[in-house]
Amino acid sequence: MKGIILAGGAGTRLYPLTKVLSKQLLPVYDKPMIYYPLSTLMLAGIRDILLISTPEDLPRFRDLLGDGGQFGTRISYAPQEKPEGLAQAFLIGEEFIAGEPCAMILGDNLFYGGWFSQNLKEAVENSAQGFATVFGYYVKDPRRFGVMELDGEHKVLSIEEKPEKPKSNYCVTGLYFYDGDAVKMAKQVRPSPRGELEITDMNRLYLQEGRLRAQVLGRGFAWMDAGTMNSLMEAATFVETVQSRQGVVISAPEEIAYYAGWISKKELLRAAGDCGNSPYGEHLKRVAEDRFIR
Ligand code: G1P
Repeated sequence: MKGIILAGGAGTRLYPLTKVLSKQLLPVYDKPMIYYPLSTLMLAGIRDILLISTPEDLPRFRDLLGDGGQFGTRISYAPQEKPEGLAQAFLIGEEFIAGEPCAMILGDNLFYGGWFSQNLKEAVENSAQGFATVFGYYVKDPRRFGVMELDGEHKVLSIEEKPEKPKSNYCVTGLYFYDGDAVKMAKQVRPSPRGELEITDMNRLYLQEGRLRAQVLGRGFAWMDAGTMNSLMEAATFVETVQSRQGVVISAPEEIAYYAGWISKKELLRAAGDCGNSPYGEHLKRVAEDRFIR
């Protein structure tokens, strides 16, 4: 299974923070935002990852993440010349995907909660069986998101992008799993009135073929998109609160790789050393020394 992280866009809603730095490189408390979506793909067992960003920002991502080897992954990079919609990622990534099932996550989306690995496992299985999977999350004001209408058994009835009159409060989060037809489907999507290839239109194509499944992330789950000043602050506060209370670190790719058996203890300790004496580095050391309770 392949995975794409889409980390493009000008981030104008965060100006001047994002004037010279990509939104997805901004800190969410103790680590760059991109670590969170990267960790989510890794938790799904995905090791072959394509990071898509603007031509200006790509070198910085490459400086930070390299070839992904330190996380037991392979990370490659591709530019999105213009932000022409989320579904464009599949056109840019056609060669990388090579007809395999593929997941995509938005670079500013943060997922955290119990049972999430199980959700991801089911999504991977759906992809292998020819289905797409979206994740629904109940929000107070769904109008700024993709919105799906579900029946009592969580079957998707309809899906709309930023509707003025939402049919439900279930928004579609920025994590999508597809089978090997993703590129074929993306090629059928036409630009929306705002000139973008909408992921919602791609999901609707799957829905029309009876191949779209939804998983609802329950009320004990935290989903955030850190794309506005307030949500960026909220995400940082959330991460700080959970981490300092529990002594865990949310979304540390090296830790995930270590527990998955993708990197050795020696490699984990080397990564910890590369982090100097930061709390993040100290945490990795604790994980390696096995004094840490999972
Ligand atoms: C995008 C999608 C929307 C989804 C949201 C999740 O919106 O178009 O369907 O609900 O991400 O973060 P955007 O953030 O591009 O406005």
